[in-house]
Amino acid sequence: MGHKIGTERSQSLLLPELVEDYVGENNPVRFIDAFVDGLDLDALGFKRVKAKATGRPAYDPADMLKLYIYFNSVKTGDNDVAQTDDVNRQLILAERPNGEPTADTLTLVKGDKPEAGANEMLLRTEFLSLDPYMRGRMSSAKSYAAPVEIGQVMEGRTVAQVVTSTLDGFEAGDWVLSSNGWQDYAVSDGENVMALGQSPERPSWSLGILGMPGFTAWAGLTRIGEPQAGETLVVAAATGPVGGTVGQIGKMMGCRVVGVAGGPEKCAYAVEELGFDACLDHKTADLAERLADACTDGIDVYFENVGGKVLDAVIPLLNPNARIPVCGIISQYNATALPEGPDRMNWLMGHILRKKLKMQGFIIGDTFGHLYPEFAKEMQGWVEDDKIKYREDIVDGLENAPRAFIGLLRGENFGKRVIRVGGRAGDDR
Ligand SMILES: NC(=O)c1ccc[n+]([C@@H]2O[C@H](COP(=O)([O-])OP(=O)(O)OC[C@H]3O[C@@H](n4cnc5c(N)ncnc54)[C@H](OP(=O)(O)O)[C@@H]3O)[C@@H](O)[C@H]2O)c1
Repeated sequence: MGHKIGTERSQSLLLPELVEDYVGENNPVRFIDAFVDGLDLDALGFKRVKAKATGRPAYDPADMLKLYIYFNSVKTGDNDVAQTDDVNRQLILAERPNGEPTADTLTLVKGDKPEAGANEMLLRTEFLSLDPYMRGRMSSAKSYAAPVEIGQVMEGRTVAQVVTSTLDGFEAGDWVLSSNGWQDYAVSDGENVMALGQSPERPSWSLGILGMPGFTAWAGLTRIGEPQAGETLVVAAATGPVGGTVGQIGKMMGCRVVGVAGGPEKCAYAVEELGFDACLDHKTADLAERLADACTDGIDVYFENVGGKVLDAVIPLLNPNARIPVCGIISQYNATALPEGPDRMNWLMGHILRKKLKMQGFIIGDTFGHLYPEFAKEMQGWVEDDKIKYREDIVDGLENAPRAFIGLLRGENFGKRVIRVGGRAGDDR
């Protein structure tokens, strides 16, 4: 398409604004003229559809997204892929995945660095947390939170540094826990931002053990699982930030802890480093038999992280009055249909009924947000006293985040997966 495209202003606009303008405008031609200078979209085969706002024929927003990506994406071979002081690299949701996300799900585009206004601050992302819930945000299926819209920056918790600020309580150089999303820079009015001080010892830990995943483990286990000394606790994804923390808290509370993890290296780590009593590799055969051998007294608390065949193996072993905090079912996040085989819903309900099981789902912020200060105090103490071990799996470069996220859902991470957006290995930021 070797045409001259757009004004500088139009190229720096974010696509959702463009589409918003476009469908909200009475004169779509004016919008197109502002965006594309000298390009005959009809001749290029762009379709016209009925605009949502005006009802008139207008170019399809999906095509406009493709156009936006075409002109703004970071091309292979660009030598300025790393974070800079003036460009804002952003990973935008380009399409909704059907099954596992692909290389086309998110696209890296370059935009202008935003400017902070009065009572705002400009934040530069240093670390981006990758979390399984993000798969849900890519989908338009009804859920507890709104999806990310096509063309929007992918959402995510971040640890950032303040670049400029006119906001009371924040000054340049401060570290903060924020929600910048998958991009280099964001403007914030301070809402939902937590100050981390000028030189936090391990800033990225606020995305893991000292933040949302650690809180999830602590609250789900102590408030729903209610483990008692001498009981048997089972948890899968046993070396991740949630599962690894659940198991270690369970040990502190006097439980026998059996983990389930993917591969011998992770299982050895759970037993030798985290102190689990046993850990089973779910990738090898006979999981149900091996779990029964490891839980000779049955299972009193099953902290549900994965669903699928681990859940199948756990159900028959649950003791009367067992508790099941339902935290996540990651084995199903990329599923496009229900699993094959007989419908086991009534089999499960039978176990719940006869054994008087307590099975409770929770969404950490919604269900337990009020407990955060209690968690923060207790976990800080455990970390300082070396009672809890924590492992990070850091991947360098925002540009590598999409691949790292696909890998997280496949279990390729070993510990809490975090993207180092700002610094590089050897840089002590
Ligand atoms: N309810 C809430 O508010 C809340 C909050 C945070 C997290 N969560 C949930 O908690 C769970 C753990 O989160 P996390 O951040 O700690 O993730 P994580 O453990 O860092 O990463 C996910 C792990 O899931 C395991 N996994 C993936 N597919 C699997 C499969 N088919 N069968 C068994 N295991 C599989 C993999 O570990 P292995 O290689 O060891 O199998 C993978 O490393 C997720 O389900 C997440 O959605 C819920």
